[in-house]
Amino acid sequence: MASKDIYSVEEYRQAADFIQSKTGHRPEIALVLGSGLSALAEEIENADFINYRDIPHFPFSSVVGHAGRLVIGQLAGKTVLVMQGRTHFYEGYTIQHITFPIRVMRLLGVKLLLLTNAAGGVNPNFQAGNLMLITDHLNFVGMAGQNPLRGPNLDDFGPRFPSMTQPYNLELINLARQVAAEHNLTLREGVYAFVAGPSFETPAEIRYLHTVGADAVGMSTVPEVVVANHCGLKVLGISSITNVAVHQFGSGKETTHEEVLETGKIIVPQLITLLKGLLQRMN
Ligand code: HPA
Repeated sequence: MASKDIYSVEEYRQAADFIQSKTGHRPEIALVLGSGLSALAEEIENADFINYRDIPHFPFSSVVGHAGRLVIGQLAGKTVLVMQGRTHFYEGYTIQHITFPIRVMRLLGVKLLLLTNAAGGVNPNFQAGNLMLITDHLNFVGMAGQNPLRGPNLDDFGPRFPSMTQPYNLELINLARQVAAEHNLTLREGVYAFVAGPSFETPAEIRYLHTVGADAVGMSTVPEVVVANHCGLKVLGISSITNVAVHQFGSGKETTHEEVLETGKIIVPQLITLLKGLLQRMN
């Protein structure tokens, strides 16, 4: 699929117009569901389904465990737009292409964005099966030059130099804390490090990430967060800690995609409880 590094306002509009022609719902809340976490989309009522491959300019994925469609309907009493699966930088798309859907959401009238992902636990206190609220991030790929906002700034969406001092909305973070407490869910908090992948990290890389302040590591979410903040969406990020990253060479432990998918499935009920609780309390 053609993947460009510059998209015009007109191209984002074409995608938004197409989606609006396929659904009568007008969602103000969007959810992005990561690896193995797409079960939530099955719970959406009065759902309209739109395959990514049918939407003009939309990126669509090839990875096992990532369905590629929008599900738009009602969940926990709110109208939501759910991305059932996302594309990743490691698949070979440009960083601008994988974040294309975020600006389309903005044009559709979305105001709140809930992002989920699977991540490796770098913090030694974390266990596989934990949920982690993302309070901040390390954008390794962006700091190395692959920032989705690189290129001509589209003033229609936001400023040339957007702030990233509070990329995850504090009110939403507090709401998530409350919902987790009410449902007796263990909710960790921490810094998510975005790496390109697709190879998992070496033990030395994990020790490095730990040293520079990462609590979890993964291959998604941060580009979307940058673009969402640029265009004024309020963002919440939740990681499913699907595996404990390996810190020591020779430990006999290994990170695999199967483990990520298997643990992802086990966490789904907790994640659904948290997301539904959040939706119920949102205005
Ligand atoms: N590293 C990077 N990405 C991941 C991991 C990991 O250990 N687990 C799930 N996504």
